[in-house]
Amino acid sequence: MKRWSGIIAEYKEFLPINQNTPIITLQEGNTPLIEACNISEKLLNNKIKVYLKLEGCNPTGSFKDRGMTLAISKAKESDAKVVICASTGNTSASAAAYSARAGLACVVLIPNGAIALGKLAQALIHGAKVIAIEGSFDDALKMVQLLASQYPITIVNSSNIFRIEGQKTAAYEIVDALGTAPDYHFIPVGNAGNITAYWKGYMDYFNLKQCSSLPKMCGFQAAQSAPIVEKKIIEHPETIATAIKIGNPFSWKSAEHARDASGGIIESVTDEEILYAYEMLAQLEGVFCEPASAASVAGVIKKNKENYFRSECNVVCTLTGQGLKDPDRAVMRVSKPIVLKPELNSIIKVLNL
Ligand code: F0G
Repeated sequence: MKRWSGIIAEYKEFLPINQNTPIITLQEGNTPLIEACNISEKLLNNKIKVYLKLEGCNPTGSFKDRGMTLAISKAKESDAKVVICASTGNTSASAAAYSARAGLACVVLIPNGAIALGKLAQALIHGAKVIAIEGSFDDALKMVQLLASQYPITIVNSSNIFRIEGQKTAAYEIVDALGTAPDYHFIPVGNAGNITAYWKGYMDYFNLKQCSSLPKMCGFQAAQSAPIVEKKIIEHPETIATAIKIGNPFSWKSAEHARDASGGIIESVTDEEILYAYEMLAQLEGVFCEPASAASVAGVIKKNKENYFRSECNVVCTLTGQGLKDPDRAVMRVSKPIVLKPELNSIIKVLNL
């Protein structure tokens, strides 16, 4: 059996590397693409086939690892000593892990008190210098850009083109798995790098005749953090989906391009719609993703109600991150454990046996 060696080794002919690029990998990629039969049957009248791309199965629990393996490898190749990013949590977790492996110093700026605890734990345990900014992600990103313009520090946010290049490999995997491109691709949108990356990946494969069609790219922002939908910067974004709580996305223009060139949409879903999809994924499909990830499936449920889909089509939803990063949210959402004394009778009573 062939051993998977990470996205750079597997897709090197599509990536900007050379013989001198040291490959820093945790064997990211090759994530499952599973069919969501129960959601399709129970929530979508079996009208469409839905596949879930489980990016939470990457080594640090999110899709960021695909871009980070390349960004950190290229930083190492160019003899960088320090990398930096602003983050709502997942980028910082991934940057910290890959930097640790590469022997690079890593600085992360996060919005104070606004990232999930699991992600903070990851950045800290991997030895990054974590600075919590009293402000938003957008404020933190501004600081990162100023710092990197004045000091020899490499930015590993998605403004770093190697991040987008690495992340596009998820689209290759989907086409490789399905044998064709899906009709629609649904994806959460925050800083808008990932929708940009997928579109690039699909276009690469299309131009190389690896697929003969292209999906409509359908991005979803959280309702009160939806600058692209509202066509204006949101100064104080709000949402329980902290990963996509972003008011001024860096890749705004290229996300609009992906939408328009593919004939897709960028719309919003409310926190309640996100949490409903989050719970349904867990309870109908056995998939525990983080709230922001569920925005893609919330989008499918919403658009199905509006009769957006032609029948017999297929849809891929990217589930961007692992639910365990934010367990507080899950515990808040559902009923608490029933506490009982170690007595058989009381247990039997509760179970209605
Ligand atoms: N889902 C999750 C779980 C994320 O962490 C992010 C972004 C997104 C979706 C949106 O992807 O930014 O490419 O549009 N997280 C970044 C971070 C901003 O800092 O971890 P995007």
